Amino acid sequence: MSTIKKVTVIGSGTMGHGIAQISAMAGYNISIRDVEQKFLDSAIDKIKWSLEKLLKKQKITDLEMKAILERIHLTTDLNESLSESDLVIEAVPEDLILKKRVYEGIDENAEDKTLYASNTSTLPITEIASLTSRPERFVGLHFFNPPQLMQLVEVIPGKETSPKVVETTVNFIESLGKQPILCRKDVPGFIVNRIFIPLVHEAAYCLERDKTNLVAIDSAVKEKMNFPMGIFELADYTGLDVIHKATVEMYSRDKDVMNPNPNIERLFSEGKYGQKSGQGFYEYKKGQYERVNLANNQVEKYDPVKLVAFAANNAGWLISHGACDKNELETALRLGMGLKAELFETVKSYGVESIINTLRQLAKENGDIYEPDQFLINHLRS
Ligand code: 3HC
Repeated sequence: MSTIKKVTVIGSGTMGHGIAQISAMAGYNISIRDVEQKFLDSAIDKIKWSLEKLLKKQKITDLEMKAILERIHLTTDLNESLSESDLVIEAVPEDLILKKRVYEGIDENAEDKTLYASNTSTLPITEIASLTSRPERFVGLHFFNPPQLMQLVEVIPGKETSPKVVETTVNFIESLGKQPILCRKDVPGFIVNRIFIPLVHEAAYCLERDKTNLVAIDSAVKEKMNFPMGIFELADYTGLDVIHKATVEMYSRDKDVMNPNPNIERLFSEGKYGQKSGQGFYEYKKGQYERVNLANNQVEKYDPVKLVAFAANNAGWLISHGACDKNELETALRLGMGLKAELFETVKSYGVESIINTLRQLAKENGDIYEPDQFLINHLRS
């Protein structure tokens, strides 16, 4: 282990409880802090469900499960949760005003030695760090849902983050058995969400423009784009509340990243968050891990070329803007979203020229955000 011994996780939702669980599994002492006991009770139930799954698959033993649970301490008391903490990981909803309040509390209670990390999915790290008393000891650590199974963690330094803090947190991520990838530019959405979140909106446009249905698009995304889930299924699994908030934050900072589809905001405002609320694009038995039954006979009913083109264009943007290189990008998509084939290999299977032409046609019909990125034109084509 690194110099870190105790980790405090602020927020016990989907990401918070998962991050706490994997940290406890790696031997760290964990304090999970939330504002109400009922949230903590729900978090520990989910941790037990996950550990039972791992136990049944003999990935952990009975004794290990007991020890992991003993290392997890739950509290609503911020001061108690931060006592002796070496690293605090904030995992509260994507709302800068809320985060500001949370960091004020952390600043009042944290010890001098404590490093700060945010699991923000989209907010600029430099911006959040500037709300705190220690921007040089602040870093973005972006985990993927479910943290228990996804191998990737994006590490995002802010403008003032010291190289030593990056090194310590990279070591921490490796000690969890995860793969850190450095996002070299603090861009909206970092690497994976810059592709994933806009793709949900684009798929919602395809639904209307191509007069097709959810299952046809999802089956095609799964089989022809090599995703482990359909894109609407993944949106419901991630949570439309999370996707909507991430959209607002990304779009307010960069109008070129996507064209928000009003249906996402509508589902959010109707409380249709996906699996967690029982209804999103699909219906679910409330609150349980569930998969959508995607019919194989639907695969040939939809050609996802526009989605391939759109995802590739945002991927190209990340590379041409220096956030990552092509290998890092493919690794991030494989380990953060479970892609079973490289995105640019899928592009090649369609033909780079055909993908560029698809983007040009989309740009003609729907606006400049579809204009092909220079990476596709200058590098992928050659
Ligand atoms: N802990 C332990 N086990 C779990 C689990 C958890 N948290 N969640 C699911 N499982 C179990 C399932 O119950 C199932 O168990 P079983 O074998 O007993 O039935 C097993 O894992 C395998 O699950 P599935 O049968 O559903 O099969 P998959 O092979 O498809 O794996 C998956 C599931 C890992 C979720 C895979 O579908 C996947 O990678 N999906 C994509 C997820 C993704 O893209 N995540 C990132 C979203 S973006 C994000 O998080 C960023 C944020 O900022 C928005």
